[in-house]
Amino acid sequence: MEMEKQKSSRIVLVPCPFQGHINPMFELASLLYSKGFSITFAHSQFNFPNPSNHPCFSFLPIPHDLSQFQASSSNFIALLLALNDNIAMPLREILVHQQQQNDEILCIIYDSIMYKVAEVANNLKLPSIILETSSASLFWTYAAFNRLESEGYFPLKDSIAEDFVPGLDPLRFKDLPIFNFPNVDDLLHLIKTTSDIRTSSAIIWNTTECLEQPILEKLKQHYQIPCFPVGPMHKYIKNIISPTSLTTEDRNCIMWLDKQVAKSVLYVSIGSLASITEREVTEIAWGLVNSNQHFLWVIRSGSITGRESKSVFHEKSLKEAIEKRGYIVEWAPQKEVLGHFAIGGFWSHCGWNSTLESICEGVPLICRPCFGDQKMNSRYVSYVWKVGIVLENELERGEIERVVRKLMVSEEGQEIRQRAMDLKLEIEKSVAENGSSYKCLDDLVKFLLSL
Ligand code: UDX
Repeated sequence: MEMEKQKSSRIVLVPCPFQGHINPMFELASLLYSKGFSITFAHSQFNFPNPSNHPCFSFLPIPHDLSQFQASSSNFIALLLALNDNIAMPLREILVHQQQQNDEILCIIYDSIMYKVAEVANNLKLPSIILETSSASLFWTYAAFNRLESEGYFPLKDSIAEDFVPGLDPLRFKDLPIFNFPNVDDLLHLIKTTSDIRTSSAIIWNTTECLEQPILEKLKQHYQIPCFPVGPMHKYIKNIISPTSLTTEDRNCIMWLDKQVAKSVLYVSIGSLASITEREVTEIAWGLVNSNQHFLWVIRSGSITGRESKSVFHEKSLKEAIEKRGYIVEWAPQKEVLGHFAIGGFWSHCGWNSTLESICEGVPLICRPCFGDQKMNSRYVSYVWKVGIVLENELERGEIERVVRKLMVSEEGQEIRQRAMDLKLEIEKSVAENGSSYKCLDDLVKFLLSL
């Protein structure tokens, strides 16, 4: 009887159309579908997923024009602001059309960055729920920005970079997303708009209590709406081959990993958006080679600033050394890679998904954050959970060699690995029956059925 009621309950999901945001929204969709809800994605035309990869879900494209931004996605924040401005009207129209077809909508769940969706939902008298795809700490930091501004901290000065941010311990000013950010006014606008939850009736978090309990408590007090930390969501999903990848996964690297010794390979990836210079790539390559460790390296097309060509390395000796110890792909099946017995460490930009995926497998990290929440995540990895080492300052081959060896083969690295394994077990408990995230997922289902 209850199942019957759930099946007729359609939830519309509105993701932010970038890889690091699409993945958690699809994970949530799979979870809710497994609980009996019907799922429709209202998805920007930009990075539109292939519906045939997701036969259980329906898809509604949101038409809009962002052509002036697609040429220069370097101005990412302006792109996100324009995306919000452009989707509100067409989203409203397709939802009205949907309702006219007698397809009842139970509620709309949207990525916190897609803040305009709350207005559309409210206008249509539909309940809306936020999915926060980054950490709870990031949201708590955003919530503190008005206070920090009124206390006169903005614009942030280099002289206070190392100081702790009042009320946001253990973060330092240099860990904040706005520190040294070029278009800070646009970013501040996005942050303030995102942290204003408007008429939304609940927040879902892709995090768990054993990682962020104190912050989650503060957020519940602050926002006074139901909060559901149900993460890490990918841990519930049995099939780890991701149909949500926007780039084709090169699975040959798994065969290469199969031939390596347990915990001997460093996995290197900077996610789907970050980029580095050609000089930095060369320093990383020499540092990896000189460390004498094996490595699997994702060099995404377009991830080296100013270089489109596939031939990255020109020095013959470097090329030969890489072939001996390393394996390079354009895109890896990351979750499967991190769960492989051969992986002993992850050099990461510390996007929230990569961070979660690594600690879920007990893989310790070398943190090399680039922008946004990555510096905060890196701080939590190294200073709070103590499952990684930060690689600071300009990239230089000698320092890279030292840090790689420290993580992969030193006694200190072994201690970090042990803590990562302990944290993995804590996370496994939280998603197992009666664990905190498992119970929150049950509560979320009850909440949705009560709407
Ligand atoms: C962006 C932001 O940069 C990040 O800071 C924020 O937390 C989320 O949005 P991105 O930089 O792509 O995301 O990083 P991340 O959050 O780590 O997400 C990348 C996703 O792509 C992960 O789920 C990862 O498994 C996947 N991936 C990455 C692959 O499947 N293969 C790869 O080769 C690299």
